[in-house]
Amino acid sequence: MRILAIESSCDETAAAVIEDGRKILSSVINTQVAEHGLYGGVVPEIASRRHTENIVAVAEKALSDAGMTLEEVDYLAVTAAPGLIGALLVGVNFAKGLSLATGKKLIPVHHLKGHIAANYLSHPELEPPFLCLVVSGGHSHIVEVSDYTKFRILGKTRDDAAGEAFDKAARAMGLPYPGGVHLDRVSKEGNPKAFKLPKPKVEGCPLDMSFSGLKTAVVNILHNAEQRGEEINIPDLCASYQDVICHALVDRTMLAAKEGGYKKIVAAGGVSANSGLRALLERECKRRHLELFVPDLELCGDNAAMIGSQAYYEALAGKFADLTLNARPTMPIDEDFE
Ligand code: KG4
Ligand code: ZN
Repeated sequence: MRILAIESSCDETAAAVIEDGRKILSSVINTQVAEHGLYGGVVPEIASRRHTENIVAVAEKALSDAGMTLEEVDYLAVTAAPGLIGALLVGVNFAKGLSLATGKKLIPVHHLKGHIAANYLSHPELEPPFLCLVVSGGHSHIVEVSDYTKFRILGKTRDDAAGEAFDKAARAMGLPYPGGVHLDRVSKEGNPKAFKLPKPKVEGCPLDMSFSGLKTAVVNILHNAEQRGEEINIPDLCASYQDVICHALVDRTMLAAKEGGYKKIVAAGGVSANSGLRALLERECKRRHLELFVPDLELCGDNAAMIGSQAYYEALAGKFADLTLNARPTMPIDEDFE
């Protein structure tokens, strides 16, 4: 089964052709990072316009890179939630148009389920059930994946997502957008124990987390130093901040693994590219004899290959959409499209 998948939930216009959920025949990503960087964050209106301008060429390139015509594709798939509504709508309407024109069935895909499926592309042997730490720019979840299309949230952030926490602190420290990857890079030269920062815990809910207080603590450290005319060691602050976030994420994942008796741990989403998170997950999983799966670095961020992978399993489960499909800016991962 060959699926043409479309992704446009944020600031990447992407298309890919995926065979049987596991093989990438092509994957094209047109990123808008440089343009949004001028404003220090994603400008939704610009994102929608760029998607509209680029989506046809991106989809055509995905088909030509795969050496296929649209007629040779079996199904169409599209990210329909969650994300920026204007951005999602471009992909959803484009995919609906292709479906109407070709008569091919349409598979709606939840963006976070796609991030999890990136691991099926990186690890051909990986199969559910497993426990997954999903960490992106908009979400931080600990999720039980009992089957390819069965998800249950065990823990989540009460406020900022991990990626958002990285980006906001990086911005306050004067690092370029998107901050996460730069904070990760600068951390490598710093001492993770130099600053004592608050832990992102939520009283009474050991698997939930809260990052907004941590981010505020960093902003206060920077402001106080500025007012006193003191120099802050930015690599030390980056390293300390990253260390607290990574420990919060990994501690909760390990606790959930112990409580649920999971043997396989999976990481997913843009933040799963973080070097500190990958190293800590590896160390803690090894200590507990748990099997760890993380996506290849190029599959951590937004792409359409992961959408095509999840779409394959959605199709096997008969989860198609008709032309009444609408995009949704928010949608829990344990919900299905109507
Ligand atoms: O999954 P993703 O590409 O888009 C969303 O679905 O949100 O995640 C983007 C997030 C951004 O916040 C970005 O800064 C963060 O992932 N990110 C990182 C790293 N690479 C990307 N955060 C920390 N360390 C990294 N190396
Ligand atoms: Zn994403």
